[in-house]
Amino acid sequence: MIAEWIKIRILSLNIILAITTRPDPTCLLSTWNDNGTTIVGSQDGIHGGSLNLLYNPRDLVIDNNNDIYISDTLNRRLMRYISNATEGYPIFNGFSIRGIALSPDEQAIYLSTFILNIERIERINKNGLGGSTVIVPLEVFSVCYSLVVRLENTYICDTNNHRVILWFNTNSSFDVVAGGNGWGTDSEHLQSPEGIFVDDDQNIYITDTRNHRIQLWKKGTSQGITVAGSSLALAGPGLGELRSPTAVIVDSRGTMFIADAGNHRILQWFKDETQASAILVGSTGTLGLNPNQLNKPTSLKFDSEGNLLVVDSENNRVQKYFVDNSQC
Ligand SMILES: *[C@@H]1O[C@H](CO)[C@@H](O)[C@H](O)[C@H]1NC(C)=O
Ligand SMILES: *[C@@H]1O[C@H](CO)[C@@H](O)[C@H](O)[C@H]1NC(C)=O
Ligand SMILES: *[C@@H]1O[C@H](CO)[C@@H](O)[C@H](O)[C@H]1NC(C)=O
Repeated sequence: MIAEWIKIRILSLNIILAITTRPDPTCLLSTWNDNGTTIVGSQDGIHGGSLNLLYNPRDLVIDNNNDIYISDTLNRRLMRYISNATEGYPIFNGFSIRGIALSPDEQAIYLSTFILNIERIERINKNGLGGSTVIVPLEVFSVCYSLVVRLENTYICDTNNHRVILWFNTNSSFDVVAGGNGWGTDSEHLQSPEGIFVDDDQNIYITDTRNHRIQLWKKGTSQGITVAGSSLALAGPGLGELRSPTAVIVDSRGTMFIADAGNHRILQWFKDETQASAILVGSTGTLGLNPNQLNKPTSLKFDSEGNLLVVDSENNRVQKYFVDNSQC
């Protein structure tokens, strides 16, 4: 009995470890150099299909080894860059790819693929070997720029259906976990959401893109709370405003980092505040190719050292902003 109990405890501990996000390599006083270094693609924004160029990249993930994976949408390929390499190699191609996610065991990437109106979620080994497996079949969702994989489940930001669904890999069914009542601007609705982040308690942060705000749908609730931007769905360039945000990530302190795509900037927004604490990148508010400018950022992640990586989609490049922890 006791041995069995210990085994169960160990199993459940493993599960907890697997779903816990990594410790933060940053502190509340971390800053980032707002001049980015182009680590993938052309710093001049040139697009192309060679191994060192991108064409309208969308999403990015980083694994424990600091290997980077990028959905290179208009080149119809998923690129992998071994730690610090500027030239990658495709591990999947043929279909266009929007959102991508690391599986919890880190051995696979889940990708939202499409060609014509065939849209699915597929799974592929990180090294690309063995081909892909279909996880979510046709006609479940319509356009997915962002997904999160937890245990055997896949959270899918279902943009054109104005909702987030949770797909159960084990029995091929799903629950609607946010929105799903058509589009609208009140707390029960979303409007063309493009980005999601799921915390350890399974609360969902959603970039409610066409409503210009970030909504938090706590686990099991049927309404969202506005945690950044205007609850009235108004766009703007102010510190308390957003314009078509596309991606959000949240650290263990509840600080949000937001790709405010329509304002071409990255915001740091502390928990329970009514405005951003800092514009980390793009404080000019204008799109451009300078190291401190962006053109429609669509995804952001931290590497293991706390440096910020941003997909600068319309500039066809990925920018890295070095962290400064000297005040910590
Ligand atoms: C960013 O680059 C500009 C132009 O070269 C320079 O004036 C500025 O000091 C740089 N900022 C940082 C934080 O290095
Ligand atoms: C990658 O570059 C960083 C510094 O930018 C360095 O600390 C790290 O050791 C490098 N990793 C590899 C695998 O070369
Ligand atoms: C599928 O599995 C999930 C998770 O165990 C469960 O909540 C859901 O009710 C199941 N759905 C069906 C149709 O069996």
